[in-house]
Formats: sequence, structure tokens, C-alpha cells
Amino acid sequence: MKMLVKGFLSLALVAGLASGAAAAEEAAHAEGGTPHYPIHHPQPVDWSFAGPFGHYDKGQLQRGLKIYTEVCSACHSMKLVSFRTLEGLGYSDAQVKAFAATHEVQDGPNDAGEMFTRKAVPSDHFPSPFPNDQAAAAANGGAAPPDMSLLAKARGVTRGFPQFIFDIFTQYQEGGPDYIHALLTGYQEPPAGVEVAPGTHYNPYFIAAPALAMAPPLSDGQVTYDDGTPQTLDQYSKDVAAFLMWAAEPHLEERKRTGFMVMVFLAIFSILIYLTKKSVYARKEH
Ligand code: HEC
Repeated sequence: MKMLVKGFLSLALVAGLASGAAAAEEAAHAEGGTPHYPIHHPQPVDWSFAGPFGHYDKGQLQRGLKIYTEVCSACHSMKLVSFRTLEGLGYSDAQVKAFAATHEVQDGPNDAGEMFTRKAVPSDHFPSPFPNDQAAAAANGGAAPPDMSLLAKARGVTRGFPQFIFDIFTQYQEGGPDYIHALLTGYQEPPAGVEVAPGTHYNPYFIAAPALAMAPPLSDGQVTYDDGTPQTLDQYSKDVAAFLMWAAEPHLEERKRTGFMVMVFLAIFSILIYLTKKSVYARKEH
């Protein structure tokens, strides 16, 4: 018991030191030291899909899809996601069909050798808002909006020592959605003395620079929710980040379930191996 208390105390001490180090880093930044991006680390959000028994909140994913469709899809493609996978959000076949039909995709060539557009069907992927990356960049001040299929898995801010050691035990894997939520809610006026390049917007949570080419895409009350969920920037950002996590990893729940079963199996297996070893090496009469 004493050991345990001691262990906890030293853990708390290390955590305290680390938060001190983070504060020192931010102070160095404020004094004009070498910039280290992002300027602020994302605040962890309490996601339903975190931890070994995590599961997606289907209502939240549906709201996130609404935000992607109404807002983000104007600039960001999601090429790897097909409409039929939306059944994972709790929609029926008919609903998926109807939703796909609200999109147009290019198909062809037809008998005359021409490409044509038609209504999307569930096996189609989400159509891209721009014909190619160059067109996307040209329309957005030179920075192409990244494809969203895997974005939630492709971004994440390193957590540093000793946080990453605790993360092994808490199974922290939500760096991507935490980052997206922090970025969407993190736009600010640039502090005095900080110059922001024309056409960019100051955001201390952006991973690569003090400002990015995306203007704040969301604000309070912009998207209508019909399930009574608060229509706030914070809620929107959580919902769309959760949706992007699902888009990047639709089989997260199965993976976690399988992982747990494997751990149970390994635990039982170890006990059996131990008993076998004891029996084999026992001094038995032959
Ligand atoms: C008007 C166009 C536009 C809209 C609408 C838009 N974005 Fe963006 N987004 C951009 C551009 C351009 C970039 C690239 C910024 C850069 O690299 O400077 C970007 C980048 C991003 C990034 C990546 C930042 C990084 O680390 O590289 C995320 C995350 C993002 N957008 C999320 C969203 C979400 C979520 C929505 C919908 C709520 C959305 N965006 C709506 C234009 C847009």
C-alpha cells in the first residue's frame, strides 16, 4: 500500500514538472523565442469512442455528417468514403439511397465517348468539390484544402514526455479529433506584434504555422440540429471531429472489442501455461 502511494506521488510530481515545462515553452514563445508549432496544445475532449470500450455516438455522427455536407464539403473532398458506408451511422438502405441521390457524380464515357454527370448511388464515393488539387489551391489562396477521408488519423500533436507514457496505459488515440476540435474553436485575433500573412487567419492551434488559409468555417447557430442538441461552435466542432474520426476509422468499435477479447484470451492462456509449467517440472513419481 505504502509503495502504491509513493508511486502515485512520484507520478504526480512528474506530471507537475511536465506541465511546468509546457508553461515554460509557451512563455519562451511569448518572448519571441524560436517558434514551436502549434503554439497551444489541443485540450483533450471527452469522446464517447475513447478507451478500451469506446463506441461511437450515432446521433453525434449524424450531426457531424450534416456539418460536413452543409459546410466542409464546399472545400474539402472525402474521396475514400462511399455513401453505402453511411449505414454505419444508423441509416437504412432507403435513407442512404436518398442521401446519395442528392449528390451528382461524373460517369462515362457514354456511347458518344463523352463524360456525363448523373445522380450518385450508394456505391459511389463522396464527389470532390474541385476537379483537381490545383483548382482547389487556386480557389483557396494557394493552399488546397486537404482530403478529409483520413484527416482525423493524419493529424495529431505530439504530447511530449511524460504524457505519452501515461497515454500507453489510458490508450489515448484521440489526438486527431482533439486537434480538429481545437483548431475549429481556436481562431483568435492575432496578439499585438504578430504579423499574419495576407489571406491567412491566426490560429494558435494550427500545427504548421501561426495562421492558416482556412477562414473560421463554423460559428454559433450556423447549422440547424433537429434533435435539440445545442447549436454552438463548440458542439459543432465536436460533432464534425467525431464524424471525421468515424470516416477515418469506421471499424474502431470492432477493433477495440477484438483487442479486449485478445487480452482476455492471453490472460487465460498465461494461467494455463503457468499451470502446465508447474506440472511438467513438478517432482512427480514416474
Ligand atoms: C472555404 C473553404 C473551406 C471550408 C468551407 C472549410 N475548409 Fe478546412 N481548410 C480549407 C483550406 C484552404 C485549408 C488549408 C489551410 C492551410 O493549409 O493553410 C483547410 C484545412 C483544414 C484542416 C487541416 C489543418 C491542418 O492541420 O492541415 C482541417 C482540420 C479543416 N480544414 C477542417 C475543416 C472543417 C471541419 C470544415 C467544416 C466545418 C472545413 N474545414 C471547412 C478550406 C476550407
